[in-house]
Order: sequence, then C-alpha cells, then structure tokens
Amino acid sequence: MNRDQNRAPIFEAAMKYADLRPAYFCVPGHRYENGVEAGFRSFAGDNIFKIDITETVVTDDLHCPVSAIKEAQELAAALWGADQTFFLVNGSTCGNEAMVLSAVRPGEKIMIAGNCHKSVYNALILSGAEPVYIMPETIDEWDIPGGISPAEAGRLFEKYPDCRALLVTSPDYYGIVSDIRALAEICRRHGALLLVDEAHGPHCYFSEKLPQGALACGADMCVQSLHKTAGALTQSSLLHVKSSSVDIELLKRSLQIVQSSSPSYILMTSIDTARRDLALHGTEMAENALELACTARNRINSIPGLKCAGRDLEGTGSVFRIDETRLIISALQLGLTGFELKSILLDDHNIEVEMADSRNIIAIVSNANTQEDIETLVSALSDIAAQHSDGIPLSGTCKVPHQAEYVMSPRDAFFAKKKIIPWEEAQGCISAEMIAPYPPGIPVIRPGEIFTAEILDYLKQIRSSGGYIHGLSDETMETLTVVSSKK
Ligand SMILES: Cc1ncc(COP(=O)(O)O)c(C=O)c1O
Repeated sequence: MNRDQNRAPIFEAAMKYADLRPAYFCVPGHRYENGVEAGFRSFAGDNIFKIDITETVVTDDLHCPVSAIKEAQELAAALWGADQTFFLVNGSTCGNEAMVLSAVRPGEKIMIAGNCHKSVYNALILSGAEPVYIMPETIDEWDIPGGISPAEAGRLFEKYPDCRALLVTSPDYYGIVSDIRALAEICRRHGALLLVDEAHGPHCYFSEKLPQGALACGADMCVQSLHKTAGALTQSSLLHVKSSSVDIELLKRSLQIVQSSSPSYILMTSIDTARRDLALHGTEMAENALELACTARNRINSIPGLKCAGRDLEGTGSVFRIDETRLIISALQLGLTGFELKSILLDDHNIEVEMADSRNIIAIVSNANTQEDIETLVSALSDIAAQHSDGIPLSGTCKVPHQAEYVMSPRDAFFAKKKIIPWEEAQGCISAEMIAPYPPGIPVIRPGEIFTAEILDYLKQIRSSGGYIHGLSDETMETLTVVSSKK
C-alpha cells in the first residue's frame, strides 16, 4: 500500500490533465473554463473549472478505480486505520445508505438508534430492512439526546437475536460520543455488525485529547463527512471498512446505486487534499480547534446567565465522551430559547451558528476558526447577556417527544396507499412522511409510525419558534399524508 502521505494522487492527476488540456469532446460540456457563465467564472477564477473533468486514463474512475483514485483511497484508509476506504461525493447521506444496503437484506432486522440522521431511515426504505429502535438516553438538564447505552443494546439483542447489525451516530450533532468499544463487543457476541455514522467525527483520529474514533474502537464500518469538520468541500465524505465480516462486493454495488456515475473531480480532489492536510498537520489542526473551543467555553461560562456544556456531561445519560470542539450554549436563564439566541446572534451581530433547538444553540469550532472569531462570539454573547439580564428565566421549553410507536416497516409505509387528512385528525394515524426539524435532521416521526398529540404539538411549536422542518408534504401544516388504513 502506498503510504506517502505527502502525495495527493487525484489532485496530481487533475493538474496533469489541466496541463495536457486535450481538445475535449466529452462531458462536462463547459470545456474547462471556456463555457462557464461569465459572472460565475469571474467570481471563481479559471482554475477550478479546469479540473471539472471526466473519467479518463489519467483521472481514473470512482466506480472502478485502478490508478489515482485507488491510490488516494488507499492513503485515506492508511490514515484512518481502515482496511478499505471509499470516497463519497454525495455526503455521509449516501454512505449511510450504502452501509445499510450492504449489511441487511429485505425483512432482516437492524437495530437503529432513534436519534439518527434521516439518511439512515431513508436507507430502511431503500433496503426493506426492519428496524428495532434503540433510544438514546436523555440529558434532562440540557434536554438533548445522550449516548446509546451498551446495557440496553445487550438487552435488545437478547430480545431480538436476529438483528444483523447495530447502527449508531457517534459523535452526534451535539458532540456526544457513545461507548463504541462496549457496543462493538456486544455486536461481536451477537454476530452483528457495528455501523457508526461518524459524520461529525473525522477529526477525532488526530489527537488523544479528543474522543477516540469509532474504527479504533472496533466499528466494522463508519462514514465521515470530511466537509463538516475537516476542511473538504460540501458533500465530500468517506466510508471506511475495518472488518472481515462486511460483504465488500455488495457494499461496492450499493455505492454504485447511491452515488452519481459522474462524480465530481473537484470534490474528489478536495477529499484527497483534505486527507493530505490531516496526514501532515492533523494533530496540530485538531488541537488548535480544541483549544479555541475550550477558550470559548470557559469564557462563555463566566458570563452571567449563560451556560456552555462540556466534559461535565460525561458519565450522565450514557455519554461516554464529549467532543469539546462543539459548543452547546444555553441562555434559558436570560429568558431566551435557542431559536431566539440564534436569531439575535445573526440579526444583531452577523454571527451564524450551526443550529438551534428550543433550548440551546450549537456552534462548531474548527481549525479554520481564528482567535478573532472566538472574540466576536464571546463578546456578542456578553452583549446579549447584558441586554437580557432582566429576562425571566425559562424553566422548560418544548420537550422532544417520545419515540412514536412503530407499526409498519418504513418501506411498506412509503409505498402504501396514502391519503391527505387535516392536521387535527392525524392523531392515531400511520405516518407516510418522515418529518425532521432541520438541523439536526433527526426525524420525530418516520413512515410507518403513529402520530401522537405530543408529536403534532411539538412540530407546531418548532415552527412557531422559528425552526425549520424538513419532510412536510404540506408546508402550511394544515394537512398531513398518512397511510390509508388506521392502526
Ligand atoms: C449525524 C449525521 N449523519 C449524516 C449526515 C448527512 O451528512 P452529509 O451532509 O455529509 O450528507 C448528517 C448531516 O447533517 C448528520 O448530522
């Protein structure tokens, strides 16, 4: 295996092709920079368009890699400690779909954490597998999901011994890391694969001060969004395999289903060069992000009325570790919900944070942030705290509803006969929709589950508090699409 991490084989191939610059009669039709719309070209510069090219003998083929892409994937595998790594140009979304498609067949059972990204549940629609849900514990003080309890996983495997795999998200959007080593051990004992959605965790492999990565703890497969925390362009992700139990041929075929047949060389170059950057400077980058985040956390915690969660969460609610580069900030003491705090930061201070829930905001600190960014955030939060010092503390906000009852496989519900009914009549009906506040994109109801009053109220509250909701068939929230038969 080629382990010269100074190399970037896809980038090298793309630059070589730009130099060769053959007369071009292939897709894409814009012929290097020549056919790009003038305004876009003037803004972006010419070079980026010179590497928006197709599969050739120089540039290799993602779906059948033999040269540059194969070498680049091998370098990534060596860096993250995988047996084999696949580049993804459709984000961790398609990685989750491919993992599930390759791990379980129609009608087989898969244990799935209840706080997964919607792509995981969409994978159930694609695969026809039957979910057994395992709910994360909750951290009441912050009203956020905690970790997945190994004891609960063990109990569910005893109850459903035919589960073929367990899929969990770790770290999750809030930086919560589950005990992957213990979960891997339970999966091994039950002959099941452990699949980890590590979309938020590719940086965790580069410093002992961060939680250990899932592959190093015994996961069979994981997906990582390099664009989320590791400097690559949006949609650039990885799927790693470290296991002899994974059906690699089925995985490759699954990837061909969920990935474009015209993968972007710009994105693949971005994966390749982000990998090189991490290989050469990963520890420095990860620890710089961590230091910036810890500085911010300490300073935010000294502002009256504000709280920023940290390693104090470890050990509660099955939280094994916290990725401290995530800042979970609450201003409930000042009378502000997460949604309100997020919009004040944007409207009054020109600061964009990743997401808000009804209680908290989440800010992601990366290596590319600067001390000035931290200063800007902390001083804006200080100003807000001063302005709202006489706010009436909120004791509770809208609570995430209980897991909906599951009565029909997501695939059967997705393809079932449906009807549109008034919102007020949906209680007790089987949902044909997957509805998720976004971010974080964790559905509160999936196809095949029963609407409760709690879920219906929660969605209305999220909307009225200014949150975005994905998956509604009727954006006005007057009607819902349900499976024709009632439970
Ligand atoms: C936990 C988790 N998994 C998967 C995804 C999808 O990743 P991508 O945006 O790379 O497709 C997201 C996106 O937010 C996510 O939060």
